[in-house]
Amino acid sequence: MSEAISEALVELAKRRGFFFQSSGAYGGVSGFYTYGPQGASLKENVEDAWRDRFAVKEGHMEIDAPTVMPEPVFEASGHLDGFDDMLVECPECAESHRADHLIEDNTDIEEAESIPLSEVEDLIAEHDLVCPDCGTELAGEPVEDFNLMFETNIGPGTSQPGYLRPETAQGIFVEFPRLKEYARNQLPFGVTQVGRAYRNEISPRNSIIRVREFTQAELEHFIDPEEDEPPLSRVEDVEVRLYPAAEQEADDGDYVETTVGEAVAEGIVTSDWVAYYLGVGQRWYDRIGVDMDRFRFRQHLSGERAHYAADCWDAEAEIDGDWFELTGFAYRSDYDLSKHGEHSDESFTLFKQYDEPKTVERATVDPDMSYLGPEFGGAAGDVADALERKAERDRSAFDGDEVTVEVDGDEHAVPVEQTGFAVEEVTEAGEHITPHVVEPSFGVDRVVYTVIAHAYREDEVDGEARSYLELDPEVAPTVVGVFPLMDKDGMDDRARELAAELREAGLEVTYDDSGAIGRRYRRQDEVGTPFCVTVDYETVEDGDGAETVTVRERDSTAQVRVPTDDLAETLTALRDGDRTFDELTAAADAD
Ligand code: ATP
Ligand code: GLY
Repeated sequence: MSEAISEALVELAKRRGFFFQSSGAYGGVSGFYTYGPQGASLKENVEDAWRDRFAVKEGHMEIDAPTVMPEPVFEASGHLDGFDDMLVECPECAESHRADHLIEDNTDIEEAESIPLSEVEDLIAEHDLVCPDCGTELAGEPVEDFNLMFETNIGPGTSQPGYLRPETAQGIFVEFPRLKEYARNQLPFGVTQVGRAYRNEISPRNSIIRVREFTQAELEHFIDPEEDEPPLSRVEDVEVRLYPAAEQEADDGDYVETTVGEAVAEGIVTSDWVAYYLGVGQRWYDRIGVDMDRFRFRQHLSGERAHYAADCWDAEAEIDGDWFELTGFAYRSDYDLSKHGEHSDESFTLFKQYDEPKTVERATVDPDMSYLGPEFGGAAGDVADALERKAERDRSAFDGDEVTVEVDGDEHAVPVEQTGFAVEEVTEAGEHITPHVVEPSFGVDRVVYTVIAHAYREDEVDGEARSYLELDPEVAPTVVGVFPLMDKDGMDDRARELAAELREAGLEVTYDDSGAIGRRYRRQDEVGTPFCVTVDYETVEDGDGAETVTVRERDSTAQVRVPTDDLAETLTALRDGDRTFDELTAAADAD
């Protein structure tokens, strides 16, 4: 990311109360940020807009699960084994670095995350990469997998290890047995969650883009892959800029500018469900003010995909020449539910009723416990259960004289004649299926950063340089700034009254009476407040006509006199886009 823009933004963010590194009184700690009043409000507005689209309008339910989860959850999910980044340590200053980022930052190679560790070591040597902190050569230093989860202990002692969740998704998956009941056991259904996630990033950077504690807004949409289809017609005309894996790998690869419908028809996006959410996501990003000229969907290269993902497209935004991920749209298949089904005692399947009953062959076992008991002792019951599961999943395992099952990591061989294995014809009304999952996973902090960066403008007003944020009123921290022209002659009291009335009407209002009026406008411009109301002498003077104030628009700085009797309605209509400022000016001119 260009240092110029990031420095200007980070400085603005700190000065005006968007976000800043936390625990500054103790020197600050890398990767943790506090949102100030403006930032907290902007972030909340982004989250509300996300909920409005992905929970309310899509008809999904929202849950709120704990951020600490016990170790078995992450054994099952694969995070304990596979949630790693590449770590290389400097032999001189002992600073830790993400090896793939070092390669990306210092060579033409992109997406180095997909390169195997041994090749990364070779690339470090080949390109003479050095420690960015002290300049020491890193050639020959080992590159190792580093697990990103924060570990903790649940309760006193160390007997129950737990982890801060690295994604909110697991809080949804582990509750599936209950959530499916709330969905009346009917697919498809979606569950959303907006909450904190934690990753012990090797080198946090780029302000709130790569932090160790962040907010995700995730949707897990559970589907029957054989039957359920998304309402693709709702988004088929949405124009998207795609960067498929094949184009990234080709020498002269380029973007594919197309529509969601065509991308599916031409097989560029192979999952209809992923394509559907790319369309919904693109519209949502446009709605909250992300610049569509600096936005694309990039498909993951095969080595880059997370351990659970069968396919994944990232929504990416560009800020001064660098692209970074805002959202992952992953097809997680039945990976997570199958794993939790295998590792826990609960059922992560759903009963799917057939239209007509079907006669099918079913493999069953009826183990001889008088054999299993003496042979396997306390494990006999588990061996019997394991035989039943084996018969369901892999009947060919019973073709020989012996069948082997695994219980708690130990393998047990059982003579097939002792298992009571049989294949019988049964009439079934339905079957138990493991739903597949389509997941749009948004990083709220990165969205907030992009919304600010894409809204940043500089111009000149009355011969003076001005910087302002052209934020959409839906996400702007404050919708209206209310000022008395001067802090006297009743203007201050009337302005306070009006501010209170506008707040009662549901508008986010800031009252400001300090400094010259021009300075107050600049302050609001800098935090992206779309409208300012000024109470002046004309407002408080007795006159024959209706009481009026000036309303000023942030982007054009144009002003218009507006009656106060319907001021709240006027500003609400402007905020919601039901009325434009030009229409307001035209109406005032006509009066
Ligand atoms: P990256 O490749 O940038 O590390 P990722 O592929 O690990 O991201 P995902 O695992 O897909 O990201 O996480 C889903 C979303 O969560 C991302 O699109 C991103 O917006 C957000 N996210 C992930 N890691 C971080 C982080 N360290 N700080 C802020 N947001 C993050
Ligand atoms: N839930 C997607 C991720 O955070 O990896």
